Amino acid sequence: MNLFQALENGYNLLKTNNINSYKIDAELLLSDSLNISKERLILNLKRVINNETYNNFLLKINRRRAKEPIAYILKKKEFWKNKFYINKNVLIPRPETEHLVEETLNIISTNQKKRLLEIGVGSGCLIISVLKERINCSAFGIDCCKNAIKIAKINAKLHQVQNRINIFKTDVDNLNSGKYDLILSNPPYIDKHKLKYLGVSEYEPTKALNGGINGTEILIKVVKKSSKLLKINGKLIIEIGSDQKYKMINILKKNKFYINKITKDLSNLDRCITSTKIA
Ligand SMILES: C[S@@+](CC[C@H](N)C(=O)[O-])C[C@H]1O[C@@H](n2cnc3c(N)ncnc32)[C@H](O)[C@@H]1O
Repeated sequence: MNLFQALENGYNLLKTNNINSYKIDAELLLSDSLNISKERLILNLKRVINNETYNNFLLKINRRRAKEPIAYILKKKEFWKNKFYINKNVLIPRPETEHLVEETLNIISTNQKKRLLEIGVGSGCLIISVLKERINCSAFGIDCCKNAIKIAKINAKLHQVQNRINIFKTDVDNLNSGKYDLILSNPPYIDKHKLKYLGVSEYEPTKALNGGINGTEILIKVVKKSSKLLKINGKLIIEIGSDQKYKMINILKKNKFYINKITKDLSNLDRCITSTKIA
């Protein structure tokens, strides 16, 4: 069997399971099994595939047929300008979260030395992307999930920022020390009653998605904690659900934050609030 035939089999298996992205998915999975780029695969379709590689490809195809996200099968996801190692213990990095990187970079200029905190680091994609762009900054990253901490540490090493970031396991409730110039957070913000209806993947960790009642339980904790941990004039940048803007603006104001900016995502939905601790 050659690569062309293997790929055709992959397309058909995914298509019969209603995977709309069957073409790109099969190509990514086959190039992953061969350990070559997708471009190289397409240029070498007449090459023969051995049984071991074909079986490895079929195993991945079957995982995809069961609707496992492609990023978990490939164990990687691109975010901002980099690739991050991921597995099922962390949320798959989302393009909308890149707005938080952008907002942070708008606030901290290239050579500034700032002390940052991320609450809920997950894979580390957010804070690591910022540290790579702002080489004089240092950071703390916390998460309540010990397996997520392991992944964030792997990514910090992979991107060579491990000397500028301290990643540790703790719940936001138990974080009581430190003074920061800027705090970032993309906490879980989906209403716990809506989780199963929203079509979010059953493969992703509940801890990363479930924001409790109204989806704002952890967001509120983040705001209250940040109010204590930020320096005066320090910035808080949070990702929110598109229907949480007014509630979160109120909570921020009650906790002595000035609202600088609401950023919309590419679907034109309110997604990110930038605010300043004023008292
Ligand atoms: C939506 S994910 C975001 C992950 C990553 N920052 C990103 O943007 O892709 C939220 C993260 O917050 C963590 N988390 C949830 N509740 C927490 C809490 N009470 N204290 C600390 N971390 C929490 C979850 O384990 C998860 O890794």
